[in-house]
Amino acid sequence: MTTMSETDTPILSVSGLQKSFADNHVLKDMKLDVAKGEAITIIGTSGCGKSLFFKCLQDLIAPDRGTIKINGQNLRDMSTQKRKEYENSRSVLFQYGGLFDSLKVWENICFLQTNLNELSKTEARQVAVEKLAIVGLPADVCDLYPGDLSGGMQKRVGFARAIANDPEILFLDEPTAGLDPIMSNEISRFIAESVSALGATTISISSDLNTVERISDRVAMIHDGRIEWDGPTDRLYSSGNDCVHQFVNKLADGPITVGI
Ligand SMILES: Nc1ncnc2c1ncn2[C@@H]1O[C@H](COP(=O)(O)OP(=O)(O)OP(=O)(O)O)[C@@H](O)[C@H]1O
Ligand SMILES: [Mg+2]
Repeated sequence: MTTMSETDTPILSVSGLQKSFADNHVLKDMKLDVAKGEAITIIGTSGCGKSLFFKCLQDLIAPDRGTIKINGQNLRDMSTQKRKEYENSRSVLFQYGGLFDSLKVWENICFLQTNLNELSKTEARQVAVEKLAIVGLPADVCDLYPGDLSGGMQKRVGFARAIANDPEILFLDEPTAGLDPIMSNEISRFIAESVSALGATTISISSDLNTVERISDRVAMIHDGRIEWDGPTDRLYSSGNDCVHQFVNKLADGPITVGI
């Protein structure tokens, strides 16, 4: 885990990012710089735009305004070649798993590599076994289908798929949501371990504060379409920011209003 010095080009740099759907102005003015090797988690109330922000960063949704730079290069101006390089250097753990029900676990884990003909079926199966071991699952899980797995196993397989291409940037959307506290701790542990082994930059979303503390060295909170607070994880409970205070102490009253 690293932090940025003034001379480093951030691996990710976002400024003036806006995205609305009709009169729902979700992202109003997002600004965020992330250094190479950093592990940052985005927090914020449900519906504040965390997943939407992620989709913009991954080039899955075009923002209305603003710039997203990867290693100093504007995503919108990138050549097809550079854009492909970016696509291959990042991976995603989707909020709802995103495993293909009709494919076996090993086919899910190496879906990209087999489709790009980077790995033969035998090699892909071998890579899948290695990645499953990292997330604490035995080799015979390879031949099961997602529907045969528990929620915790599905999350682990999703993470195994996210690290299958040894990514430079990992996007993890709610990696421990819906899991019991023990499984949540386990998943947080192997996320922290494998990210550090890979030397990857990790940008996560989590509403589980225990997970936030275990997997990130920095936290940024979205509120009202902007980054409301950005600081080291160990300042989360002494941020001096009213929104963060309300969020981490689970208080109903404060600047954050509770909607539907
Ligand atoms: N494709 C879309 N079309 C219309 N509205 C959308 C679309 N994507 C997101 N939104 C809206 O943007 C807002 C933010 O959604 P988003 O999924 O980013 O929330 P979130 O912060 O990830 O919430 P949660 O913590 O519940 O996952 C919501 O009001 C949602 O309805
Ligand atoms: Mg979300």
